[in-house]
Amino acid sequence: MKPKVVTVGLGYIGLPTSALIANNNIPVYGVDISQQVVDTINAGKIHIIEPDLEQAVSVAVSGGYLKADIKPVPADNYLVVVPTPFKGNHEPDISYVKAATKVLIPILKEGDLYIIESTSPVGTTEKMMEYIFSERPELDGKIYLAYCPERVLPGNVMYELVHNDRVIGGVNEESTLKAIAFYRQFVKGKLHPTNAQTAEMCKLIENSSRDVQIAFANELSLICDKAGIDVWELIDLANKHPRVNILQPGCGVGGHCIAVDPYFIVADFPMESRMISQARATNNYKSFWCAEKIKSARLEFELKHGYTPSMAIMGLAFKPNIDDLRESPAIHILERIIQDSGDADLYIVEPNVEQHKVFKLSDYTLAAKKADIIVMLVAHDEFRDLTFKDHQVILDFCGINN
Ligand SMILES: NC(=O)c1ccc[n+]([C@@H]2O[C@H](COP(=O)([O-])OP(=O)(O)OC[C@H]3O[C@@H](n4cnc5c(N)ncnc54)[C@H](O)[C@@H]3O)[C@@H](O)[C@H]2O)c1
Repeated sequence: MKPKVVTVGLGYIGLPTSALIANNNIPVYGVDISQQVVDTINAGKIHIIEPDLEQAVSVAVSGGYLKADIKPVPADNYLVVVPTPFKGNHEPDISYVKAATKVLIPILKEGDLYIIESTSPVGTTEKMMEYIFSERPELDGKIYLAYCPERVLPGNVMYELVHNDRVIGGVNEESTLKAIAFYRQFVKGKLHPTNAQTAEMCKLIENSSRDVQIAFANELSLICDKAGIDVWELIDLANKHPRVNILQPGCGVGGHCIAVDPYFIVADFPMESRMISQARATNNYKSFWCAEKIKSARLEFELKHGYTPSMAIMGLAFKPNIDDLRESPAIHILERIIQDSGDADLYIVEPNVEQHKVFKLSDYTLAAKKADIIVMLVAHDEFRDLTFKDHQVILDFCGINN
């Protein structure tokens, strides 16, 4: 089947998107630099955890509508869905977007639609347009380019890809209209037209807004700890106000989006983005604070009982019930604990991950039974019904039963 769509990047976003499009009977050619990812998908299987995704990929591959490869082939529509991390100094790294664009440049033809879905600093779509036209000047004015950010929730991706509203910004009006017509084939949510820069900024401020709100909750947790007030009860009571909606505190902020995207604004608008920058600092500080609390609890236990306590580190993912460890504050906390006193007495638990390349993982029931100090970092469902003995010290940073 001749591909109509090429998706570049088959990760948490690119693969579900490819499967969705393919299952609308639009032939998709998925491209990834990882041969292992390509082979897994071509076998109708998946390399990430996401409900209903395996079934969708299996149906798409066996029906002949989805094929994966490490190199693209000509199609009519191209989606760039590669990572956009930051570099050491929190500057956005768009080298993956550029690398993905580079392999598409030789196969682009008149009338094609090129879309970036990767979260990107403002101006990236226009930069890629200039890059494309510098290599293929004859395409200037003859192809369509747009930016369309993704805003799905991991764990509910297959539903939200279809039902969420989307913001679609072209480099000109024709590109916006062309991109809207493309998404209309498989999205039931509303499609909101704008320009590329506004769409790029829209994605960044959505996640910055979440980051600022979580920072407020995390700041409250620090204040309450000092004031001797139960922060969970406090927030629950405050939220009884009809116009107050405070989020829940946690052990920091992680993941590939909320912990990363605000830096894209701060890097480009350092003088103007003071609150956004402070929210990042507050959320990072919360992880540091948790690690210090754990160290103190360990010391107190040792002084009281005369021996070094064993500890269970419960959860490594960046949020409940997923296997995604990227930018996870729980990992930062764990690393600090290990730096402080090694990992000899640690039970490290992450029920959604089978193996970790650095940490030896333990079963969560065993850890909860054996450890002297239980550190709740992530509110995974598995941890909710655990019971503990009186002598065990529980440090709950995620409000496991709230
Ligand atoms: N994961 C989310 O929940 C989420 C939500 C909204 C937006 N986003 C954004 O979507 C983009 C993709 O995120 P993701 O979570 O799917 O990333 P991911 O790391 O899960 O997947 C990216 C894939 O791209 C592949 N890749 C890297 N460079 C490539 C190249 N040059 N050519 C082909 N393949 C390449 C990688 O091997 C990987 O499989 C990012 O910009 C991210 O910020 C992610």
